Amino acid sequence: MSKSYAITSFGCQMNVYDAERMAEILEADGWQAVADAESADLVVLNTCHIREKAAEKVYSELGRLRALDRDQGRRRQVAVTGCVAQAEGEEIPRRAPNVDLVIGPQAYHRLPELLGAAAHRAGSGHAVATEFAAEAKFGSARVARGAGATGTAFLTVQEGCDKFCSFCVVPYTRGAEYSRPAADILAEARRLVAAGALELTLLGQNVNAYHGAAPDGGEWSLARLLAALAELPGLERLRYTTSHPLEVTPDLVAAHRDLPQLMPYLHLPVQSGSDAVLQAMNRRHRADDYLRLVADLRAARPDLAMSGDFIVGFPGESDADFAATLDLVRAVGYAQAYSFKYSPRPGTPAAEREDAVPEPVKAERLAALQALLQEQQRRFNEASVGRVLPVLLERPGRRPGQRAGRTPQMQAIHVDAAQDLPPGPVISRVRITAAHANSVSGMPVDAAAAA
Ligand code: SAH
Ligand code: SF4
Ligand code: F3S
Repeated sequence: MSKSYAITSFGCQMNVYDAERMAEILEADGWQAVADAESADLVVLNTCHIREKAAEKVYSELGRLRALDRDQGRRRQVAVTGCVAQAEGEEIPRRAPNVDLVIGPQAYHRLPELLGAAAHRAGSGHAVATEFAAEAKFGSARVARGAGATGTAFLTVQEGCDKFCSFCVVPYTRGAEYSRPAADILAEARRLVAAGALELTLLGQNVNAYHGAAPDGGEWSLARLLAALAELPGLERLRYTTSHPLEVTPDLVAAHRDLPQLMPYLHLPVQSGSDAVLQAMNRRHRADDYLRLVADLRAARPDLAMSGDFIVGFPGESDADFAATLDLVRAVGYAQAYSFKYSPRPGTPAAEREDAVPEPVKAERLAALQALLQEQQRRFNEASVGRVLPVLLERPGRRPGQRAGRTPQMQAIHVDAAQDLPPGPVISRVRITAAHANSVSGMPVDAAAAA
Protein backbone atom coordinates (compact mmCIF):
# COMPACT_ATOMS: atom_id res chain seq x y z
CA MET A 1 0.00 0.00 0.00
CA SER A 2 1.50 3.35 -0.97
CA LYS A 3 1.49 6.05 1.67
CA SER A 4 1.64 9.63 0.48
CA TYR A 5 2.56 12.77 2.39
CA ALA A 6 2.60 16.53 1.90
CA ILE A 7 4.48 19.03 4.08
CA THR A 8 3.64 22.72 4.28
CA SER A 9 6.17 24.95 6.02
CA PHE A 10 5.52 28.36 7.52
CA GLY A 11 8.03 30.69 9.16
CA CYS A 12 11.79 30.89 8.93
CA GLN A 13 14.49 29.05 6.96
CA MET A 14 15.10 26.75 9.91
CA ASN A 15 11.62 25.37 9.31
CA VAL A 16 12.49 24.86 5.64
CA TYR A 17 15.57 22.91 6.70
CA ASP A 18 13.51 20.88 9.20
CA ALA A 19 10.90 20.13 6.51
CA GLU A 20 13.63 18.75 4.24
CA ARG A 21 14.87 16.52 7.08
CA MET A 22 11.32 15.31 7.83
CA ALA A 23 10.85 14.50 4.14
CA GLU A 24 14.01 12.38 4.22
CA ILE A 25 12.86 10.57 7.34
CA LEU A 26 9.40 9.88 5.88
CA GLU A 27 10.82 8.67 2.57
CA ALA A 28 13.19 6.31 4.36
CA ASP A 29 10.06 4.99 6.09
CA GLY A 30 8.27 4.27 2.79
CA TRP A 31 6.24 7.46 2.34
CA GLN A 32 5.99 9.20 -1.05
CA ALA A 33 5.81 12.96 -1.54
CA VAL A 34 2.79 14.51 -3.27
CA ALA A 35 2.45 18.17 -4.14
CA ASP A 36 -0.65 19.04 -2.15
CA ALA A 37 -2.83 18.03 0.77
CA GLU A 38 -5.76 16.99 -1.49
CA SER A 39 -4.16 13.69 -2.46
CA ALA A 40 -2.06 13.08 0.69
CA ASP A 41 -2.67 10.38 3.31
CA LEU A 42 -0.54 12.38 5.74
CA VAL A 43 -0.39 16.16 5.96
CA VAL A 44 2.39 17.77 7.99
CA LEU A 45 1.90 21.42 8.93
CA ASN A 46 5.29 22.77 9.98
CA THR A 47 4.28 25.89 11.87
CA CYS A 48 5.58 29.27 13.05
CA HIS A 49 4.62 31.07 16.27
CA ILE A 50 6.55 34.31 15.82
CA ARG A 51 3.57 36.63 15.29
CA GLU A 52 -0.12 36.09 15.90
CA LYS A 53 -0.99 35.99 12.19
CA ALA A 54 1.60 33.26 11.55
CA ALA A 55 0.30 31.17 14.44
CA GLU A 56 -3.36 31.49 13.42
CA LYS A 57 -2.62 30.21 9.91
CA VAL A 58 -2.38 26.67 11.21
CA TYR A 59 -5.95 26.71 12.50
CA SER A 60 -7.41 27.93 9.21
CA GLU A 61 -5.38 25.23 7.45
CA LEU A 62 -6.64 22.59 9.90
CA GLY A 63 -10.22 23.73 9.23
CA ARG A 64 -9.63 23.38 5.50
CA LEU A 65 -8.29 19.83 6.01
CA ARG A 66 -11.37 18.91 8.08
CA ALA A 67 -13.62 20.09 5.26
CA LEU A 68 -11.50 18.15 2.77
CA ASP A 69 -11.86 14.95 4.85
CA ARG A 70 -15.61 15.47 4.94
CA ASP A 71 -15.88 16.04 1.17
CA GLN A 72 -13.68 13.07 0.36
CA GLY A 73 -15.30 10.81 2.97
CA ARG A 74 -11.97 9.82 4.51
CA ARG A 75 -9.82 10.53 7.49
CA ARG A 76 -6.28 11.59 6.57
CA GLN A 77 -3.54 11.74 9.18
CA VAL A 78 -2.49 15.22 10.31
CA ALA A 79 0.71 16.14 12.12
CA VAL A 80 1.38 19.63 13.46
CA THR A 81 5.12 20.26 13.85
CA GLY A 82 7.29 23.31 14.47
CA CYS A 83 6.97 26.22 16.85
CA VAL A 84 3.16 26.33 17.32
CA ALA A 85 3.34 22.63 18.22
CA GLN A 86 5.94 23.43 20.86
CA ALA A 87 4.10 26.47 22.22
CA GLU A 88 0.55 25.10 22.28
CA GLY A 89 0.99 21.32 22.68
CA GLU A 90 -2.24 19.67 23.90
CA GLU A 91 -4.22 22.82 23.09
CA ILE A 92 -3.99 22.04 19.36
CA PRO A 93 -5.95 18.73 19.30
CA ARG A 94 -8.42 20.32 21.73
CA ARG A 95 -9.13 23.07 19.19
CA ALA A 96 -8.74 20.81 16.14
CA PRO A 97 -9.67 17.16 16.83
CA ASN A 98 -8.44 16.03 13.39
CA VAL A 99 -4.85 16.41 14.61
CA ASP A 100 -3.16 13.06 15.30
CA LEU A 101 0.35 14.21 16.17
CA VAL A 102 1.85 17.32 17.72
CA ILE A 103 5.63 17.34 17.40
CA GLY A 104 7.91 20.15 18.58
CA PRO A 105 10.91 21.29 16.49
CA GLN A 106 13.37 19.21 18.53
CA ALA A 107 11.43 15.93 18.27
CA TYR A 108 10.66 15.44 14.57
CA HIS A 109 13.07 12.50 14.33
CA ARG A 110 10.35 10.55 16.19
CA LEU A 111 7.87 10.97 13.29
CA PRO A 112 7.94 7.34 12.03
CA GLU A 113 7.62 5.88 15.52
CA LEU A 114 4.76 8.22 16.41
CA LEU A 115 3.00 7.62 13.09
CA GLY A 116 3.26 3.87 13.66
CA ALA A 117 1.70 4.21 17.10
CA ALA A 118 -1.02 6.51 15.69
CA ALA A 119 -1.90 3.89 13.03
CA HIS A 120 -2.49 1.35 15.85
CA ARG A 121 -4.88 3.75 17.52
CA ALA A 122 -6.76 3.82 14.18
CA GLY A 123 -7.61 7.47 14.17
CA SER A 124 -8.71 7.86 17.76
CA GLY A 125 -6.65 9.91 20.18
CA HIS A 126 -3.46 11.81 19.53
CA ALA A 127 0.17 12.02 20.67
CA VAL A 128 2.15 15.06 21.76
CA ALA A 129 5.98 15.09 21.62
CA THR A 130 7.51 18.36 22.72
CA GLU A 131 10.68 17.34 24.56
CA PHE A 132 13.90 19.23 23.82
CA ALA A 133 16.56 16.95 22.38
CA ALA A 134 18.32 18.91 19.66
CA GLU A 135 21.21 16.47 19.63
CA ALA A 136 18.99 13.45 18.87
CA LYS A 137 17.24 15.40 16.15
CA PHE A 138 20.45 16.17 14.28
CA GLY A 139 21.79 12.68 14.91
CA SER A 140 19.05 11.39 12.63
CA ALA A 141 19.77 13.81 9.79
CA ARG A 142 21.08 12.15 6.62
CA VAL A 143 20.91 15.01 4.19
CA ALA A 144 21.60 15.25 0.51
CA ARG A 145 18.20 16.27 -0.69
CA GLY A 146 17.47 19.03 -3.09
CA ALA A 147 20.93 20.61 -3.16
CA GLY A 148 21.61 19.56 -6.75
CA ALA A 149 18.42 21.11 -8.12
CA THR A 150 19.21 24.73 -7.25
CA GLY A 151 22.89 24.71 -6.30
CA THR A 152 22.10 26.24 -2.94
CA ALA A 153 21.22 24.57 0.38
CA PHE A 154 20.53 25.37 4.01
CA LEU A 155 22.58 23.80 6.78
CA THR A 156 21.42 24.31 10.36
CA VAL A 157 24.46 24.68 12.62
CA GLN A 158 22.87 26.14 15.73
CA GLU A 159 19.42 26.11 17.27
CA GLY A 160 17.60 27.84 20.05
CA CYS A 161 18.26 31.10 21.79
CA ASP A 162 19.25 32.31 25.26
CA LYS A 163 18.78 36.01 24.52
CA PHE A 164 15.17 36.36 25.69
CA CYS A 165 14.29 39.55 23.85
CA SER A 166 11.14 40.64 25.65
CA PHE A 167 8.90 40.30 22.56
CA CYS A 168 10.09 36.95 21.25
CA VAL A 169 8.81 33.36 21.52
CA VAL A 170 11.88 31.65 20.07
CA PRO A 171 13.65 30.89 23.39
CA TYR A 172 10.46 29.08 24.44
CA THR A 173 9.72 27.27 21.18
CA ARG A 174 13.26 26.28 20.15
CA GLY A 175 14.78 25.98 23.61
CA ALA A 176 18.26 26.82 24.84
CA GLU A 177 21.14 27.53 22.49
CA TYR A 178 22.68 24.40 21.07
CA SER A 179 25.61 24.26 18.63
CA ARG A 180 26.19 21.15 16.53
CA PRO A 181 29.68 19.63 16.62
CA ALA A 182 31.84 21.02 13.80
CA ALA A 183 32.70 17.53 12.51
CA ASP A 184 28.99 16.77 11.91
CA ILE A 185 28.54 20.06 10.08
CA LEU A 186 31.58 19.44 7.88
CA ALA A 187 30.32 15.95 7.05
CA GLU A 188 26.88 17.32 6.16
CA ALA A 189 28.47 20.08 4.07
CA ARG A 190 30.50 17.49 2.14
CA ARG A 191 27.33 15.50 1.42
CA LEU A 192 25.56 18.65 0.22
CA VAL A 193 28.46 19.61 -2.05
CA ALA A 194 28.61 16.07 -3.44
CA ALA A 195 24.88 16.37 -4.16
CA GLY A 196 25.51 19.56 -6.16
CA ALA A 197 25.49 22.48 -3.72
CA LEU A 198 27.68 25.40 -4.83
CA GLU A 199 26.43 27.61 -2.00
CA LEU A 200 25.60 26.87 1.63
CA THR A 201 23.68 29.10 4.01
CA LEU A 202 24.46 28.26 7.63
CA LEU A 203 21.35 28.62 9.75
CA GLY A 204 20.66 29.36 13.39
CA GLN A 205 18.30 31.61 15.32
CA ASN A 206 21.49 33.14 16.68
CA VAL A 207 23.90 31.70 14.18
CA ASN A 208 26.81 33.90 15.17
CA ALA A 209 26.54 32.63 18.75
CA TYR A 210 27.78 29.31 17.31
CA HIS A 211 30.31 27.62 19.62
CA GLY A 212 30.41 23.97 18.60
CA ALA A 213 32.80 21.22 19.61
CA ALA A 214 35.90 21.36 17.41
CA PRO A 215 36.98 18.18 15.59
CA ASP A 216 40.18 18.10 17.69
CA GLY A 217 38.66 19.02 21.06
CA GLY A 218 38.06 22.60 22.18
CA GLU A 219 35.49 24.86 20.54
CA TRP A 220 35.05 26.58 17.21
CA SER A 221 33.45 29.98 16.68
CA LEU A 222 31.32 30.70 13.62
CA ALA A 223 34.33 32.44 12.01
CA ARG A 224 36.48 29.33 12.53
CA LEU A 225 33.72 27.11 11.13
CA LEU A 226 33.36 29.35 8.06
CA ALA A 227 37.12 29.19 7.47
CA ALA A 228 37.02 25.37 7.58
CA LEU A 229 34.04 25.25 5.20
CA ALA A 230 35.78 27.64 2.82
CA GLU A 231 38.45 24.94 2.35
CA LEU A 232 35.97 22.40 0.95
CA PRO A 233 36.63 21.85 -2.76
CA GLY A 234 33.59 22.71 -4.88
CA LEU A 235 31.97 24.92 -2.26
CA GLU A 236 31.95 28.35 -3.90
CA ARG A 237 29.76 30.43 -1.65
CA LEU A 238 28.97 30.78 2.04
CA ARG A 239 26.29 32.75 3.82
CA TYR A 240 24.93 32.67 7.35
CA THR A 241 21.72 33.86 8.98
CA THR A 242 20.33 35.15 11.41
CA SER A 243 22.81 37.08 13.47
CA HIS A 244 22.58 39.03 16.68
CA PRO A 245 24.58 42.27 17.01
CA LEU A 246 25.97 41.19 20.41
CA GLU A 247 27.73 38.23 18.81
CA VAL A 248 29.50 40.04 15.97
CA THR A 249 33.01 39.26 17.20
CA PRO A 250 36.26 40.65 15.75
CA ASP A 251 37.09 37.26 14.21
CA LEU A 252 33.73 37.26 12.41
CA VAL A 253 34.36 40.77 11.09
CA ALA A 254 37.78 39.56 9.90
CA ALA A 255 36.16 36.59 8.16
CA HIS A 256 34.26 39.04 5.96
CA ARG A 257 37.63 40.49 4.95
CA ASP A 258 39.55 37.23 4.58
CA LEU A 259 37.16 34.68 3.08
CA PRO A 260 36.32 35.35 -0.56
CA GLN A 261 33.68 32.58 -0.36
CA LEU A 262 31.77 34.54 2.29
CA MET A 263 29.26 36.57 0.27
CA PRO A 264 29.03 40.34 0.79
CA TYR A 265 25.59 40.30 2.38
CA LEU A 266 24.63 40.30 6.05
CA HIS A 267 21.24 40.06 7.71
CA LEU A 268 21.79 41.77 11.06
CA PRO A 269 18.50 42.61 12.80
CA VAL A 270 18.44 45.69 15.02
CA GLN A 271 14.65 45.97 15.66
CA SER A 272 14.71 49.65 16.67
CA GLY A 273 16.91 52.74 16.51
CA SER A 274 15.82 54.02 19.91
CA ASP A 275 18.00 53.23 22.93
CA ALA A 276 14.96 53.30 25.24
CA VAL A 277 13.09 50.79 23.07
CA LEU A 278 16.19 48.61 22.61
CA GLN A 279 16.53 48.47 26.38
CA ALA A 280 12.86 47.62 26.87
CA MET A 281 13.28 44.89 24.23
CA ASN A 282 16.23 43.49 26.22
CA ARG A 283 18.46 43.71 23.15
CA ARG A 284 21.40 44.66 25.38
CA HIS A 285 23.08 47.12 23.03
CA ARG A 286 22.52 50.72 21.96
CA ALA A 287 21.84 52.13 18.49
CA ASP A 288 25.41 53.50 18.37
CA ASP A 289 26.88 50.06 19.01
CA TYR A 290 25.02 48.76 15.98
CA LEU A 291 26.20 51.63 13.79
CA ARG A 292 29.78 50.99 14.89
CA LEU A 293 29.47 47.30 13.98
CA VAL A 294 28.15 48.19 10.55
CA ALA A 295 31.09 50.55 10.07
CA ASP A 296 33.58 47.84 11.15
CA LEU A 297 31.97 45.30 8.83
CA ARG A 298 32.04 47.71 5.91
CA ALA A 299 35.67 48.55 6.62
CA ALA A 300 36.37 44.80 6.35
CA ARG A 301 34.21 44.30 3.25
CA PRO A 302 33.37 47.59 1.52
CA ASP A 303 30.73 46.11 -0.81
CA LEU A 304 28.81 44.50 2.09
CA ALA A 305 25.04 44.77 1.56
CA MET A 306 23.11 45.16 4.80
CA SER A 307 19.75 43.66 5.65
CA GLY A 308 17.82 43.77 8.90
CA ASP A 309 14.60 43.26 10.84
CA PHE A 310 12.52 45.99 12.45
CA ILE A 311 9.59 46.01 14.83
CA VAL A 312 7.38 49.11 14.98
CA GLY A 313 4.88 49.85 17.72
CA PHE A 314 6.63 48.05 20.56
CA PRO A 315 4.77 48.96 23.82
CA GLY A 316 5.69 52.49 24.90
CA GLU A 317 7.31 53.43 21.55
CA SER A 318 6.91 57.21 21.18
CA ASP A 319 7.02 59.33 18.02
CA ALA A 320 10.59 60.28 18.98
CA ASP A 321 11.55 56.61 19.40
CA PHE A 322 10.16 55.84 15.98
CA ALA A 323 11.98 58.84 14.47
CA ALA A 324 15.21 57.37 15.90
CA THR A 325 14.51 54.15 13.98
CA LEU A 326 14.14 56.13 10.74
CA ASP A 327 17.41 57.93 11.56
CA LEU A 328 19.21 54.63 12.05
CA VAL A 329 17.85 53.30 8.75
CA ARG A 330 19.08 56.45 6.98
CA ALA A 331 22.49 56.09 8.61
CA VAL A 332 22.90 52.43 7.60
CA GLY A 333 21.40 52.40 4.10
CA TYR A 334 19.90 48.92 3.72
CA ALA A 335 19.95 46.81 0.57
CA GLN A 336 16.76 45.17 1.81
CA ALA A 337 15.01 44.60 5.13
CA TYR A 338 12.00 43.09 6.86
CA SER A 339 9.69 45.10 9.08
CA PHE A 340 6.78 44.07 11.25
CA LYS A 341 4.13 45.52 13.51
CA TYR A 342 4.73 44.42 17.08
CA SER A 343 2.54 41.42 17.88
CA PRO A 344 2.07 40.53 21.58
CA ARG A 345 2.94 36.87 22.13
CA PRO A 346 1.61 34.78 25.01
CA GLY A 347 4.23 34.06 27.66
CA THR A 348 6.62 36.87 26.68
CA PRO A 349 7.34 39.75 29.12
CA ALA A 350 6.38 42.50 26.64
CA ALA A 351 2.89 41.01 26.26
CA GLU A 352 2.21 41.96 29.91
CA ARG A 353 2.75 45.66 29.27
CA GLU A 354 -0.19 48.00 29.40
CA ASP A 355 1.20 50.80 27.24
CA ALA A 356 0.38 49.20 23.88
CA VAL A 357 0.68 51.42 20.81
CA PRO A 358 -2.72 51.80 19.11
CA GLU A 359 -3.15 49.78 15.91
CA PRO A 360 -3.59 52.80 13.57
CA VAL A 361 -0.31 54.28 14.88
CA LYS A 362 1.47 50.98 14.29
CA ALA A 363 0.08 50.85 10.76
CA GLU A 364 1.17 54.42 10.04
CA ARG A 365 4.70 53.81 11.34
CA LEU A 366 5.04 50.57 9.41
CA ALA A 367 4.00 52.33 6.19
CA ALA A 368 6.52 55.14 6.77
CA LEU A 369 9.34 52.72 7.57
CA GLN A 370 8.56 50.49 4.62
CA ALA A 371 8.46 53.45 2.25
CA LEU A 372 11.96 54.43 3.38
CA LEU A 373 13.29 50.85 3.17
CA GLN A 374 11.78 50.35 -0.29
CA GLU A 375 13.36 53.58 -1.46
CA GLN A 376 16.74 52.36 -0.16
CA GLN A 377 16.32 48.99 -1.83
CA ARG A 378 15.49 50.63 -5.16
CA ARG A 379 18.52 52.90 -4.87
CA PHE A 380 20.73 49.94 -4.01
CA ASN A 381 19.46 48.02 -7.03
CA GLU A 382 19.93 51.05 -9.29
CA ALA A 383 23.53 51.46 -8.11
CA SER A 384 24.33 47.94 -9.32
CA VAL A 385 23.27 48.61 -12.92
CA GLY A 386 26.29 48.31 -15.23
CA ARG A 387 28.28 46.12 -12.85
CA VAL A 388 29.43 42.62 -13.79
CA LEU A 389 28.74 40.13 -10.99
CA PRO A 390 29.13 36.38 -10.51
CA VAL A 391 25.52 35.23 -10.28
CA LEU A 392 24.36 31.84 -9.01
CA LEU A 393 21.71 30.80 -11.52
CA GLU A 394 19.44 28.54 -9.49
CA ARG A 395 16.50 27.77 -11.77
CA PRO A 396 14.74 28.52 -15.07
CA GLY A 397 13.10 31.94 -15.28
CA ARG A 398 9.49 32.57 -16.20
CA ARG A 399 10.21 33.29 -19.87
CA PRO A 400 12.01 31.01 -22.35
CA GLY A 401 15.77 31.56 -22.35
CA GLN A 402 15.58 33.19 -18.94
CA ARG A 403 17.30 31.98 -15.75
CA ALA A 404 16.75 33.18 -12.18
CA GLY A 405 19.11 33.36 -9.24
CA ARG A 406 20.91 35.60 -6.76
CA THR A 407 23.71 38.11 -6.98
CA PRO A 408 26.47 37.93 -4.32
CA GLN A 409 24.58 40.67 -2.48
CA MET A 410 21.44 38.54 -2.42
CA GLN A 411 19.50 40.51 -5.03
CA ALA A 412 16.98 38.39 -6.89
CA ILE A 413 17.99 38.45 -10.56
CA HIS A 414 16.49 37.40 -13.88
CA VAL A 415 19.05 36.79 -16.60
CA ASP A 416 17.88 37.00 -20.21
CA ALA A 417 19.44 35.28 -23.24
CA ALA A 418 20.82 32.62 -20.91
CA GLN A 419 20.04 29.67 -23.19
CA ASP A 420 23.71 29.17 -24.15
CA LEU A 421 24.98 28.97 -20.57
CA PRO A 422 25.80 25.52 -19.17
CA PRO A 423 22.65 23.76 -17.91
CA GLY A 424 21.83 23.23 -14.26
CA PRO A 425 22.84 25.47 -11.40
CA VAL A 426 25.92 27.43 -12.39
CA ILE A 427 27.78 30.57 -11.36
CA SER A 428 28.06 32.91 -14.36
CA ARG A 429 29.37 36.40 -14.94
CA VAL A 430 26.38 38.63 -15.56
CA ARG A 431 26.10 42.31 -16.43
CA ILE A 432 23.30 44.04 -14.52
CA THR A 433 21.14 45.84 -17.08
CA ALA A 434 18.12 47.10 -15.14
CA ALA A 435 16.90 47.69 -11.59
CA HIS A 436 13.42 47.05 -10.22
CA ALA A 437 11.82 47.45 -6.80
CA ASN A 438 12.72 43.95 -5.52
CA SER A 439 15.08 42.56 -8.13
CA VAL A 440 17.45 43.29 -10.99
CA SER A 441 17.79 42.03 -14.57
CA GLY A 442 20.96 41.05 -16.38
CA MET A 443 22.64 39.51 -19.42
CA PRO A 444 25.42 36.92 -19.50
CA VAL A 445 28.66 38.78 -20.14
CA ASP A 446 29.89 36.45 -22.86
CA ALA A 447 26.56 36.35 -24.70
CA ALA A 448 26.38 40.16 -24.50
CA ALA A 449 29.89 40.40 -25.97
CA ALA A 450 28.98 38.00 -28.79
CA ALA A 451 25.76 39.87 -29.67
N1 SAH B 1 17.10 35.72 15.97
C1 SAH B 1 16.76 36.83 15.22
C2 SAH B 1 15.29 36.97 14.90
C3 SAH B 1 14.37 35.83 14.91
S1 SAH B 1 12.66 36.18 14.71
C4 SAH B 1 17.22 38.09 15.96
O1 SAH B 1 17.70 38.02 17.05
O2 SAH B 1 17.09 39.17 15.47
C5 SAH B 1 12.61 37.10 13.20
C6 SAH B 1 12.11 38.48 13.36
O3 SAH B 1 10.74 38.49 13.71
C7 SAH B 1 12.76 39.28 14.46
O4 SAH B 1 14.00 39.80 14.07
C8 SAH B 1 11.75 40.35 14.72
O5 SAH B 1 11.96 41.47 13.90
C9 SAH B 1 10.43 39.69 14.37
N2 SAH B 1 9.64 39.40 15.56
C10 SAH B 1 9.93 38.54 16.55
N3 SAH B 1 8.98 38.57 17.50
C11 SAH B 1 8.05 39.48 17.10
C12 SAH B 1 6.85 39.98 17.66
N4 SAH B 1 6.39 39.56 18.84
N5 SAH B 1 6.16 40.91 16.95
C13 SAH B 1 6.62 41.36 15.75
N6 SAH B 1 7.74 40.93 15.19
C14 SAH B 1 8.47 40.00 15.85
FE1 SF4 C 1 14.18 36.10 19.49
FE2 SF4 C 1 15.90 37.84 20.46
FE3 SF4 C 1 16.54 35.26 20.36
FE4 SF4 C 1 16.36 36.68 18.12
S1 SF4 C 1 17.83 37.00 19.79
S2 SF4 C 1 15.53 34.67 18.46
S3 SF4 C 1 14.69 38.07 18.56
S4 SF4 C 1 14.95 36.17 21.61
FE1 F3S D 1 8.77 30.96 13.42
FE2 F3S D 1 9.84 29.17 14.97
FE3 F3S D 1 11.21 30.14 12.96
S1 F3S D 1 8.53 30.81 15.61
S2 F3S D 1 10.43 32.21 12.81
S3 F3S D 1 9.39 28.93 12.81
S4 F3S D 1 11.98 29.58 14.95
